[in-house]
Formats: sequence, structure tokens, C-alpha cells
Amino acid sequence: MADKRKHPADDLISQLIAIEEEGDRLSEAELISMITLLIFAGHETTSNLIARGTLMLLDHPEQWEKLKADLSLVPSALEELLRFNGPATIAGPRFAIKDIELAGQQLKKGDIVFPVLKSANRDERQFTEPEKLDITRKINRHLAFGHGIHMCLGAPLARVEGEVAFATLLRRMPNLRLSVPRESVAWNFTLSSQGLADLPVAF
Ligand code: HEM
Repeated sequence: MADKRKHPADDLISQLIAIEEEGDRLSEAELISMITLLIFAGHETTSNLIARGTLMLLDHPEQWEKLKADLSLVPSALEELLRFNGPATIAGPRFAIKDIELAGQQLKKGDIVFPVLKSANRDERQFTEPEKLDITRKINRHLAFGHGIHMCLGAPLARVEGEVAFATLLRRMPNLRLSVPRESVAWNFTLSSQGLADLPVAF
């Protein structure tokens, strides 16, 4: 940030700094927080989507074959991969703004609620056979990117990245397969996300 202050260029960090200086809108802390969020929220989630999505397709060979045979299914496959096992486990915490009853629980003003996206995305009232991965599923909405005012800022970019990645992977590496036993694929778990430590493949 110090460098960009001295030498502003045509990039996002320079633009965020400019906004801060013109209208005093982003404090130093907000600026750091926004840049960190863009780098880590933007990078880690999308690489998880691609790696985990690939693993899910390898776990369901009939879906992999179906997708390979018809790349026009990539957009709907991506939405299904996000729904079935998207990278984010929970959304940002929400706070009750008044005493309220929610799903049979009494919340007091100020109580914190953690929306569990993965649970909502397997809600049988919303999806038929939610435990089934079906890349042709017509999804009106899912919560992999959260909901409301704090819904993921990068969702359109993540969708483009995911579509390009899966279409390219299927085209260039149609014989992609795991090069280690399935049970030795290692995971990184945090409260808010689940990612693969690595995904060794042969092609
Ligand atoms: C598959 C990829 C991604 C997933 C699954 C994902 C998921 C999420 C989720 C669940 C939230 C919280 C939403 C809520 O609390 O309602 C969020 C927020 C956010 N995401 Fe993403 N994200 C992804 C990619 C990206 C990318 C590529 C960027 C930026 C380049 C990004 C930037 C952000 C930002 C800035 C927020 C905070 C929005 C706010 O609080 O107003 N995300 N994301």
C-alpha cells in the first residue's frame, strides 16, 4: 500500500487508495481488510472450488463422462458443484437486531447466528434428492455465495474462473484420474472453509 501511495498505477489497490483519499471513505484498517479479503477470499475459495470440484467429478465418474460428452453443461455443473459441496462452510456471522424466534430458537438482540451454507444447500425442502450430485439439475438458487447485502462480491468472477477451468480441464485432460488412493487425499479444514491440501492426478 505504501508503494502504491507513492506510485499509483492503473490497478485495484491504487483505486481503493484513491477512494480513501478523495472522500475519506476507507480507513487504513478498512483498506487492509478489503485488500486482504480480495486476495485471500478471492484466491483460496476459487482454487478450492476447482480442486474440490474436480475431486467430486472424479468421485462420480458417470457425471464426469456426461460433462465431457457435452461441455454446454459446464455452467449448470458448476452451480451443482457449488451447491453439493462448495468451498465455503459458513457465511459471515449475522447479529439479531431484536429479540426474535428463529426456527424454534429464541434469539436475543445482539445474539450471533452463523448461517451454515452447506446445510442450506442440502435442504430437502429446496432440492429433490439433495444428497445426489446431478450436473443437469436446474438450480434456481443456492447459498454457496451467501445471501443478502454481504453476498459474495466475487461470485461473477468465481463463476467465470470455474467455467473456464472445468471446460479447459475436460478438453485438455479427458483421461484425468487420481494418482494416489482416494483415502490419502488430504484436506485442510477451517471453520469457514474446507479445501484440499493437494490433489495428485495423472492424465
Ligand atoms: C467459489 C468461489 C467463492 C466462494 C464459494 C465465495 C463465498 C463467499 C461467501 C460465502 C461469502 C459471505 C457471504 C455472506 O456472508 O452472505 C463471501 C463474501 C465475499 N467474497 Fe467470496 N467467494 C468466492 C470467490 C470470491 C472471489 C473470486 C472474490 C473476489 C475477487 C470474493 C470476494 C468476496 C468479498 C469481498 C466478500 C465480502 C462481501 C461483503 O461482506 O459484503 N469471493 N464469499
